[in-house]
Amino acid sequence: MTQTIGIIGSGLVGKAVAHLAVAAGYHVVISNSRGPHTLTALVDELGPLARAGTVEEAIAAGDIVTLSVPLPTVERLPAARFAGKIVLDQTNYYPGMGDFRSTDLDAGALTSSELVERHLDGAAVIKGLHNLGWIHMQYNARPKGDTERTTLPIAGDDAGAKAAVTRFLESVGYDVVDAGSLAESWRIEPNTPIYFWPYAPVIPEGMAEEEAKALFQQPGQPLSPDAARALIENTQRPSPIGGTLEGMPPVHVALFLELASADTVRP
Ligand SMILES: NC(=O)c1ccc[n+]([C@@H]2O[C@H](COP(=O)([O-])OP(=O)(O)OC[C@H]3O[C@@H](n4cnc5c(N)ncnc54)[C@H](OP(=O)(O)O)[C@@H]3O)[C@@H](O)[C@H]2O)c1
Repeated sequence: MTQTIGIIGSGLVGKAVAHLAVAAGYHVVISNSRGPHTLTALVDELGPLARAGTVEEAIAAGDIVTLSVPLPTVERLPAARFAGKIVLDQTNYYPGMGDFRSTDLDAGALTSSELVERHLDGAAVIKGLHNLGWIHMQYNARPKGDTERTTLPIAGDDAGAKAAVTRFLESVGYDVVDAGSLAESWRIEPNTPIYFWPYAPVIPEGMAEEEAKALFQQPGQPLSPDAARALIENTQRPSPIGGTLEGMPPVHVALFLELASADTVRP
C-alpha cells in the first residue's frame, strides 16, 4: 500500500502535490536541487507527515516518486536509483524552455513520458497530475462522492503502477480515467482538449487584472469520467507538438511568474 510520496522538485507543482498528499494522510519526503536545508519552512508548513530529503532519499522513501521538475532536468536525475520505482511523471514538453528541444518529441516519434521512461530505466512511469495548473491541483480536489469532484487522466504501461497511482489520485481528491499506454499519452499532452482548460475557470474578456487573478484561483467545471474519456478519445494529435506560454491564459502566466519568484508561496 502506498504510504510515502517521494517528491522531486519543491517548486509550484512539488508544493501542490505535497499539500494534497499530507492532507490525505500520506507521508511525504520532498527534495529539490539545493538540498534539504532549503526546505525547512515548507516542511514546517506541511506538518508532521512531511520531511525534507535529498533527491536520493526522496526516491528511496517513495512508494510513488513524483517528477515535479522541468522536463530537461530529468536527464540530470540519478537514473539508476529509480529502478523498480513507481514514478508519477508530471513533466510537460514546452519546446525551447530551458533551452531544451528534442527532435524525437518534435517529430512525434516519442511522447515526453516515453522519453522520461527511456532515461529512468527500470522505473514504471505513469503520466499524471500534469494537465492542470498548480493552483488548480488544490482548488479542484474534492472528496469522493462530492458532486463537484472532477476527473484526471493517467497513462502508462504497467498495470500495477497505474492502479497505485489511481488509488493515490483518488484519495487526494480526483476521479481517474485510463488514457492508455505511454505511447498514447500524446492524447493528454499540452494542447489537447483535456489539458489545462477543463480545470480552470473562464475569465471574461476585459476583466480587471486583480479580479481576474482572484477568479482564476477557483476550480473549473467538474468533468465526469465519461466526459473525460470522450475528450481523450476524440483528440487529434496536436501539431506542432508541445506547449507554449502563448497558449496559456495571460493571467496564469502572470501568476506563475509572480508566485514562482516568491519564497513563501502556497500553491
Ligand atoms: N506550473 C504548473 O502549473 C504546472 C502544471 C502541471 C505540470 N507542470 C510541470 O511540472 C514540472 C514542475 O513545474 P513547476 O512549475 O513546479 O516548476 P518550478 O516552480 O520551477 O519548480 C521546479 C523545481 O524543480 C527543482 N529542480 C530542478 N532541477 C532539479 C534537480 N536536478 N534535482 C532536483 N530538483 C530539481 C527545482 O529545485 P530548486 O527549488 O532547488 O531550484 C524546483 O524546486 C514541470 O515539468 C512543468 O511542466 C507545471
